[in-house]
Amino acid sequence: MTTDVNITDHEDNQLPRFDRVQRSFHWVMAAIILLAIVIGFYCWLQTPGTPSRRALLEVHKSLGMSALVLLAFRVAYRLAVGAPGYARPLGRLTHIAAEAAHLVLYVLMLFMPLTGYMFSGAGGYSLRGSVCFNGLGCYPEMTL
Ligand code: HEM
Ligand code: HEM
Repeated sequence: MTTDVNITDHEDNQLPRFDRVQRSFHWVMAAIILLAIVIGFYCWLQTPGTPSRRALLEVHKSLGMSALVLLAFRVAYRLAVGAPGYARPLGRLTHIAAEAAHLVLYVLMLFMPLTGYMFSGAGGYSLRGSVCFNGLGCYPEMTL
């Protein structure tokens, strides 16, 4: 008698997965970015110039710059280690769509903080208040 090879829940740990480091990068960065988006939109609703808006924007900028720094390490690690294969092969188009979606997410993860950093600098706003780490130095001023 033959047995079908079925992928069931208890065999889940046999499935190809991103490793622990990649999963940590993913969830830590997802939390940071989602929080930055919520705070960014909240600030957008506030009257410009109020002390609470300024303070929240400092938090927003710190989160965004942290995401930018983490992204460099994440991309380097991803390029070194690669990604796991799919449990079941995807159709060609689906595979291309999945790869493209991941690429778009990486591009967004780069451009959101980078444009925030550039426009903030262009508007004459400094990063000094929020993102100088004691003893470790500050981000450079970016003026266009
Ligand atoms: C700011 C939010 C997020 C960003 C920027 C993001 C980005 C990404 C990226 C780039 C990948 C490709 C894997 C890699 O190279 O690391 C990925 C995979 C994945 N993400 Fe997210 N993610 C976010 C939030 C979420 C959330 C909220 C969920 C679930 C509720 C989720 C579920 C997944 C899953 C299941 C995969 C694996 C997909 C696969 O293997 O094809 N992500 N994500
Ligand atoms: C993960 C990275 C980031 C995301 C997802 C993000 C997202 C957002 C969102 C959704 C808003 C509200 C919409 C708007 O006002 O247009 C916003 C506003 C803002 N962001 Fe970001 N941001 C990021 C990084 C940064 C960085 C790194 C800086 C500066 C260094 C920055 C500076 C600002 C400023 C100054 C505003 C207020 C604009 C205004 O209302 O006048 N952001 N951001």
